[in-house]
Amino acid sequence: MDIIEEINRLRVEKRAVILAHNYQLPEIQDIADFVGDSLELSRKAASTDAKIIVFCGVHFMAETAKILSPSKIVLLPDLRSDCPLANMITIEDVKKLRKDYPKAAFICYINTSADVKAECDICCTSSNAVDVVNSVSADTIVFLPDRNLGNYVSKHIHPVRNGVPQSGISNRAEKKMIIWNGFCPTHENLKAEDVLELKKLYPAAKFVAHPECTADVLELADRIASTSGIIKYVKTESSKDFIIGTETAILHRLKKENPDKNFIPASRKMFCPNMKYNNLESLYESLLNEQPEIEVPEKIREKAFLTIDRMLKIGKKD
Ligand code: 13P
Repeated sequence: MDIIEEINRLRVEKRAVILAHNYQLPEIQDIADFVGDSLELSRKAASTDAKIIVFCGVHFMAETAKILSPSKIVLLPDLRSDCPLANMITIEDVKKLRKDYPKAAFICYINTSADVKAECDICCTSSNAVDVVNSVSADTIVFLPDRNLGNYVSKHIHPVRNGVPQSGISNRAEKKMIIWNGFCPTHENLKAEDVLELKKLYPAAKFVAHPECTADVLELADRIASTSGIIKYVKTESSKDFIIGTETAILHRLKKENPDKNFIPASRKMFCPNMKYNNLESLYESLLNEQPEIEVPEKIREKAFLTIDRMLKIGKKD
């Protein structure tokens, strides 16, 4: 049996769309209908008219697709695809924070479970976190769960005057941000020394980093962006060499779309094993059996939907 032919036959027969995150295995990226970052994939999941969404990413991403498209069958080929960062905060933690900061606006990164989203006010991704924070009029913000993204965003806060965020002014002292202490183990594997070493070897290279990297790493970056923001940046930059500060599977797309450029992983330790459980075999089985299906209880889904929808109404940035 030719597994690619079978997947292609089943996807047509079942009216399925295959969505893949930029960190998926090369063969999954190549077979997907659409490859993107968290925000782009959410938008695709919300707008598709397919009957089945096969989500090749991690659990919270497939859950987000189900929240946005409840009438569709949402499949995650391998349920072991989980996000350690998303698991660093629970619904109980959020309820306690709500008691501690009753007047704060609660902003959750998309890397959270559906029940955590349901307890928050607005969601964000790495590509729109600054805009989301600046869209909020409360002068205290609880940001969860990523400490590095939170810290990065806190440096781009605009103050609030008479309940209105003041654009163009950056003064973090006027807005208070409480940041949860979660982190992405893959991004924290990159150390500033790794980047400094590579910069010596490739002095003309641009260093581009994902905002889940630590602050000392981000300080060395020529550009800080989401995964798709990184892809757009290298396309428009005239440099030939790029040091890539995010999960290494993104290099597949970077090389494919820019064959004349040179991409250097900032660290080989930037490898997310959870993103690699989905493969051609599990994708095929999943399409064939329509399993494992992602479900979200309706009460949680309705509340989580509002949290995500508020974000989707905010303009997209890298
Ligand atoms: P992006 O939204 O930039 O694709 O990032 C998702 C993610 O989980 C990074 O670790």
